Amino acid sequence: MANTILVGAQWGDEGKGKIIDYLTDKVDMVVRSQGGANAGHTVIIGKNQYILHLIPSGILRPRKKCVIGNGVVIDPPQLVKEMTGLERKGVKLKGRFFISDCAHLVLPYHKELDAARDASKGKKAIGTTKRGIGPAYEDKAARNGLRMGDLVNPAVFEAKLKDRVRAKNKELKALGQKPLSFAKIHAEYRKAAKKLAPYVTNTVVLLHQALQKKASMLFEGAQGTFLDIDHGTYPFVTSSNATSGGACTGSGVAPSRIDKVLGVMKAYTTRVGGGPLPSASDDISDMLHNMGREFGATTGRPRRCGWFDAVAVRHAVMVNGIDEMAVTNLDGLDGLAKIKVCVAYKIDGKRTNYVPSDIGTFAMCEPVYRTFPGWQTSTEKITAYQDLPLNARKYLKALAELIGARMSIVSVGPARDQTMVV
Ligand code: IMP
Repeated sequence: MANTILVGAQWGDEGKGKIIDYLTDKVDMVVRSQGGANAGHTVIIGKNQYILHLIPSGILRPRKKCVIGNGVVIDPPQLVKEMTGLERKGVKLKGRFFISDCAHLVLPYHKELDAARDASKGKKAIGTTKRGIGPAYEDKAARNGLRMGDLVNPAVFEAKLKDRVRAKNKELKALGQKPLSFAKIHAEYRKAAKKLAPYVTNTVVLLHQALQKKASMLFEGAQGTFLDIDHGTYPFVTSSNATSGGACTGSGVAPSRIDKVLGVMKAYTTRVGGGPLPSASDDISDMLHNMGREFGATTGRPRRCGWFDAVAVRHAVMVNGIDEMAVTNLDGLDGLAKIKVCVAYKIDGKRTNYVPSDIGTFAMCEPVYRTFPGWQTSTEKITAYQDLPLNARKYLKALAELIGARMSIVSVGPARDQTMVV
């Protein structure tokens, strides 16, 4: 398979974990390049369910190599927990899992600050995952961050951590929070460092050596286009570039080495956390929640659900350069007699086909819907595209035309075999 960047074309939770797992069979390496433990990629293999927050989902395929790139922010105790969880299930990591020495650390003060700051915003809260993502990226940009390379160097780590805890405790105090103990953090992180050290390396060199040997790579995006710090619905976004460009900066693999960008989208829309969602619908939310669907993999929060927003996904196709699209959760619509699709927005009565960059204007967007007939039959056991009900195929064809990308994969359930190539 060609070197492919896989991106979420909506607000995250598009079902990327499953598509990544499906595609990993065809590549040599899987690379993560942004975000952190805010992500939650769910993969179901047989009777086992795996939820991975930091380790690329490719790890579940034996012999594939997995890399956490420089652009990721790593919570070391969380990573150790994930590694030991996988090892307990018989997944081997030695020789196939690599962590960038330039990836920044998430420290306990990042998590405390994340929660305290978001809580202080009241109704304007972003609704972050409280995994310390924003504060960790802030420290990276402010050049105050600690990196994996520091963690595995005991003397450097001790000195830098002492300095940072002192400064961060002042900030926590100002927010009415208790100070954190340097000794406790130091002990916990040094323990994690011992487990992680053998895996920490210069992943830029590693990836380039692999490219020279013609290895094929899948860059697994976390979050989604509208959570991107630049292209998302700012400020209701995460703190990294979740769009395709982030895969290059976050791994050190240049754009000229990339062959394809694959988008992943749901057949409807969901969003977890704050911020506007023009096509939100109580009807579809209630239906999906009653089916036990659409609860966050990382936080367990119910996701807000809505009709498919073709304006938003068209925008995602544009900013990511999406060549092909995988559509997931088609089966979520199986029971509906009528399915709406948002084809344009109205702002103050004026029709627009674009996503406005200003959040205030975006919040004013009223959806313009086109209604499609449903198929009202289960698609869960269908394994070939031509066997999908006619109305389901018509719906997918219309979505492809509306977003301007070819539909190449359709998923009708969480399992590996509930996937069909178009
Ligand atoms: P943060 O990334 O924890 O700072 O959260 C910022 C926003 O992004 C919040 O609205 C989160 O709910 C959302 N978010 C972060 N990661 C994910 C994800 O993996 N899936 C869906 N939403 C996410």
